[in-house]
Amino acid sequence: MQNENLKSKIKILAIETSCDETAASVVEKTTKGVSILSNVVASQIDIHQKFGGVFPEHASRAHTEKIIPVVEEALGNIDPDIIAVTIGPGLIGSLLVGVNFAKTYSYSKNLPIIGINHWLGHIYSNFVGKSQNPNLKSQNGIPEFPALILIASGGHTGLVLMKSHHDIIPLGETLDDAAGEAFDKVAKLLQLGYPGGPEIAKAAAKIRNPKLEIRNKFQIPNIKLPRSMLDRKDYNFSFSGLKTAVLYKVKELSKNYPLNAIRYTLAAEFQAAVCDILIGKTIQAAYEYQPESICLCGGVSANRELREQMKKAVSGLPMNPSFHVPAIHLSTDNAAMIGIAAAYHLDDTTTFDKISANANLKL
Ligand code: KG4
Ligand code: ZN
Repeated sequence: MQNENLKSKIKILAIETSCDETAASVVEKTTKGVSILSNVVASQIDIHQKFGGVFPEHASRAHTEKIIPVVEEALGNIDPDIIAVTIGPGLIGSLLVGVNFAKTYSYSKNLPIIGINHWLGHIYSNFVGKSQNPNLKSQNGIPEFPALILIASGGHTGLVLMKSHHDIIPLGETLDDAAGEAFDKVAKLLQLGYPGGPEIAKAAAKIRNPKLEIRNKFQIPNIKLPRSMLDRKDYNFSFSGLKTAVLYKVKELSKNYPLNAIRYTLAAEFQAAVCDILIGKTIQAAYEYQPESICLCGGVSANRELREQMKKAVSGLPMNPSFHVPAIHLSTDNAAMIGIAAAYHLDDTTTFDKISANANLKL
């Protein structure tokens, strides 16, 4: 469906239910750019915490309960012009709740609908104006092309080169675990909470606290974990070896030290290894592709250490690219990023009968 007859101010209701967050947002596209009018996320952390990971059946059920109140809160008094919805990849039971809700809404209000790939959504989390993202340094706050983009989330980790809104080339991706998945699994090994990313980050930060008694009581040896794939020329990642290395270190060190004494050192070294791998590959790709901008996105981009170190590494690059990272609430799953992606792809709008969920959708 073409958008010739659409208004100059377009309000997009975006819905995201691919995993364990029920999210809805309204974004507005004008000639000046895209802005976020509302962004509501109902987290299911409490539900999945006791399982140490996302329990798909519970996720679908919670989405079903939350979708209407979350959309109502996001809409307020707004009448949207277009519906955008995440169609994949993700958990099929979770995706179906959002997709069927969006299709029903589109049908009943006779509104155009657009299906968005979840990873495309993460990419577009950096495409909002400066006022909403104080981290940006480029003039209008929007990344310039070609943009080198690192997506690091719980379901996917990869590097893409974005030459235009319609020319996005995958450069490499994880061959096994995603970076966020590794954070979650290592957190489990260290008996930290769920989701693992923020818990590892918290534990790692404690290492700098001289008052951390349990650690001072024991002389924990220095730990060095592998930085896998950094010696290879391609842009693929692998995190499962790193996770196994942590498992072996826990087994070895547990013979002499309690877990609550070694977990801080292990968390800090694991986080440092992930940062080195992600930053190392991004910088390697920057030398080859000479991007105008470098963007970090996905749930792992909420990691402070990664944000700071990546910014520093990018600032030392001779091609002087701008650096973009989303505000924290746009790093982890949300619907605003789906709405922003839709705003840049309005020519892809269609009718409700053409939209379906695909758990294994590729970028
Ligand atoms: O993008 P996201 O919200 O969902 C997916 O698309 O997968 O990413 C979730 C992932 C989880 O694995 C979580 O542990 C990780 O992002 N994460 C973090 C941090 N906050 C969330 N990883 C490292 N440090 C964080 N502060
Ligand atoms: Zn995500």
